[in-house]
Amino acid sequence: MTEPNEKLLQQIEELKKKKRAVILAHYYTTPEVQAAADFLGDSLALSVEAQSVDADIILFAGVHFMAETAKVLCPEKRVLIPCPEAGCSLAESCDAADFARFKSRYPGHTVVSYVNTTVGVKALTDICCTSSNALKIVESIPRDQPVIFAPDRNLGSYIQKLTGRDNMVLWDGACHVHEEFSLEKILDLKREHPDARVVVHPECKAHLVAAADFVGSTAAILDYCGKCGGDCFIVVTEPGILAEMRKRYPGKRFIPAPPMDSTCGCNECRYMKMVTLENIAACLENEGPEITLDEETRRKAERSIRNMIAVR
Ligand code: 13P
Ligand code: SF4
Repeated sequence: MTEPNEKLLQQIEELKKKKRAVILAHYYTTPEVQAAADFLGDSLALSVEAQSVDADIILFAGVHFMAETAKVLCPEKRVLIPCPEAGCSLAESCDAADFARFKSRYPGHTVVSYVNTTVGVKALTDICCTSSNALKIVESIPRDQPVIFAPDRNLGSYIQKLTGRDNMVLWDGACHVHEEFSLEKILDLKREHPDARVVVHPECKAHLVAAADFVGSTAAILDYCGKCGGDCFIVVTEPGILAEMRKRYPGKRFIPAPPMDSTCGCNECRYMKMVTLENIAACLENEGPEITLDEETRRKAERSIRNMIAVR
């Protein structure tokens, strides 16, 4: 850690105490930001943790939909977001008004939405899911009940394949990071490291999922790397997760999968990387920017998230 970062971390610690604030951070943020977090997790763990934090302020070091989710679950708390421009290409691929029109074409369907959606889409949803629990959530719906699954077409078709359901309609959205990986480059890496296990996030395209030794959410991949007995992994998801992998399993080797164009850095989530120690410190100092939601939309969205947490 560089000296300026240490100073900022210290300043953030002091501000957290003074303001009774906690920082929740996603694994895809930078290692410095992860170092400032009181709780680090994947989308599911962060949603669950948000409900039980003992603090006046939650600062969400992640992207906008995650901070919105925390506010939906904790309307009485102040939820701050250090960089409100940190969106998500997947959430943005599903506009609430377009989704309402889409939904009206499929009456009688149960709507399952990935948590990577805006609060407006969650308000149109019966039950949310994350990549950790998507299979469990879809399996909790009677088999003869038709389902709309939004917004990630890759996760949706993966779940469709696992469940064998032919009554799932998919929204055509995707994440710019997970769509960018190249199978050829992963196979090249596999030739260089024949003992490496390929671990893949289900937001990736089907041909990458098919080449995986393990498919799972960020948290599931972390667990698998600890438990599976292998000691070298080709990691096909956002490389922010490598910091936690190396911390948890210092004796193992983790190789980030490159994107199609190795010069573009587009296997990194540009939104998650917009969160910095500087904007966290400023956000705590100023107690803003803050998430505010329309109460009726929040209540509808809360029902869909609570329905997910009840199944988990
Ligand atoms: P998980 O945290 O559920 O693995 O999702 C990954 C992701 O893309 C978060 O934005
Ligand atoms: Fe959204 Fe993809 Fe970034 Fe996750 S990695 S926040 S899905 S753009």
